[in-house]
Amino acid sequence: MEIAATVETLAARDFHGPLTGRRVIVTSGPTHEPIDPVRYIANRSSGKQGHAIAEAAAQAGADVTLVSGPVNLPDPPGVKTVHVESARDMLVAVEKALPADVAIFAAAVADWRVAQADSQKIKKAAGGAPELSLTENPDILATVAHKTAKRPQLVIGFAAETEKVVEHAKAKLNSKGCDWIIANDVSAKSGVMGGEDNTVHLVTGSGVESWPKQSKDDVARQLITRVAAAIAGQLQ
Ligand code: CTP
Repeated sequence: MEIAATVETLAARDFHGPLTGRRVIVTSGPTHEPIDPVRYIANRSSGKQGHAIAEAAAQAGADVTLVSGPVNLPDPPGVKTVHVESARDMLVAVEKALPADVAIFAAAVADWRVAQADSQKIKKAAGGAPELSLTENPDILATVAHKTAKRPQLVIGFAAETEKVVEHAKAKLNSKGCDWIIANDVSAKSGVMGGEDNTVHLVTGSGVESWPKQSKDDVARQLITRVAAAIAGQLQ
């Protein structure tokens, strides 16, 4: 069983692809932030876009580590997948996967967690609903982008926005300290959360490119083609 899985894993990688010899880290999916042993805070991310990016990078020959929150997707072939639950676990797994040439942060990380998760199930009490005190999670993308040692050559974030998509993405490019931002409209009308298609804008230091609506697999392939070109350019 294990041998078969290894053969399948290697078969999914093109060892002559443009990212051969490169290490790529991808984050994907939501995070789950515990309230107590049976309840958690989460979001609607399916992980489809991040998983597609990890698979496309492996198909291009990269040595890929995918750090995934809880999703209902199989591990992509050719990719080393690390399963995590919370934002803090995701940060630990990403730091463990460094160094890398490229890091792509597609996960919808929960911004907040319950400051003190209960070790027992919180019981319904006569006094009414419990008050949850929230505290901010670490920003994984900003932490990696601001590293002085082990910063990947190319750090790419996503900007999930429901309005003023490009404007907010440009602000995030600066505040997070990353090199590129993939901006996408995640408003209910876009259908992107859980859907098969995505409409994105690539925001870099030199401008904004709006890509046509396409499948998440095609967005992933187009992004990886751009990544490979950028990495090759930096080597010349
Ligand atoms: N991100 C991260 N760690 C966090 C929050 C976000 O690594 N704690 C990354 C996401 O993976 C994404 C980028 O930061 O690449 C932007 O995420 P997004 O949810 O759009 O923005 P936020 O930073 O959460 O800001 P806001 O919720 O105010 O839009």
